[in-house]
Amino acid sequence: MALLEVKNLGIVFGGLHAVEDFNLSLEKGSLYGLIGPNGAGKTTVFNMLTGVYKPTTGTFSLDGKKLTGKSPVEISKAGIARTFQNIRLFKNLSAIDNVKLGLHNQMKYSTFEAIFRLPRYFTTEKKMNEKAMELLKVFALDDEWDTLADNLPYGKQRKLEIARALATNPKLLLLDEPAAGMNPSETQDLMDTIRFVRDKFDMTILLIEHDMKLVSGICEEVTVLNFGTELAKGKTSDVLNNPEVITAYLGD
Ligand SMILES: Nc1ncnc2c1ncn2[C@@H]1O[C@H](COP(=O)(O)OP(=O)(O)OP(=O)(O)O)[C@@H](O)[C@H]1O
Ligand SMILES: [Mg+2]
Repeated sequence: MALLEVKNLGIVFGGLHAVEDFNLSLEKGSLYGLIGPNGAGKTTVFNMLTGVYKPTTGTFSLDGKKLTGKSPVEISKAGIARTFQNIRLFKNLSAIDNVKLGLHNQMKYSTFEAIFRLPRYFTTEKKMNEKAMELLKVFALDDEWDTLADNLPYGKQRKLEIARALATNPKLLLLDEPAAGMNPSETQDLMDTIRFVRDKFDMTILLIEHDMKLVSGICEEVTVLNFGTELAKGKTSDVLNNPEVITAYLGD
């Protein structure tokens, strides 16, 4: 059984089929790319898979559990985490506090225990700090644990967002244009980090990206969306050499 199973997913906005008949089956541990021109419907797919938009048609399930129609909170708890095309961090919180926000849904103490500083508050806080530092280390952000998110350079903010998404302990990680705005060396570094995350956490990753060097460098397979429909899918090198894909998206 595939980890993520998406069947005939579609959504209509005021007559516009933003996504139509989208199908995807992702095995655990795969690194899969979703590409296509601007406005093709890529982010809309993520918005449906995270419960932000309710699909008009179709279903999707994670680990055999049907998630269509569930709320973003329920879907996050079920194990789908994401990053955003435009970075969304708590700018005025430190790097570590941003990660700890992701951890909160797993490690719990009651308000009562927090106010009265009962033992469980301290042990939980200690565990959260350790876990958050561990995640920051994966992204080489541990030296900047105390830096406000807003004061981190752009490339590091992008990484911090991935660290926060991972803190929710997902089964599936959705990355929306993680390399957007990065220079070539930052992009190379990000590619290595994404591969490392997949290997270290045995993570399943679906990523939207316009940087074809990144896509061909790390994605085993891709789907190309064009005007909301699948133009091509399959092995990355085959798809990127497909004449139809070159005409519609890559140019010549
Ligand atoms: N909430 C909405 N209401 C109306 N139309 C929407 C909404 N969200 C997305 N759309 C439309 O759906 C289409 C797909 O948008 P989407 O953001 O998914 O594209 P994308 O492939 O992520 O593009 P980009 O590469 O520019 O990020 C666009 O025509 C967009 O205007
Ligand atoms: Mg988008």
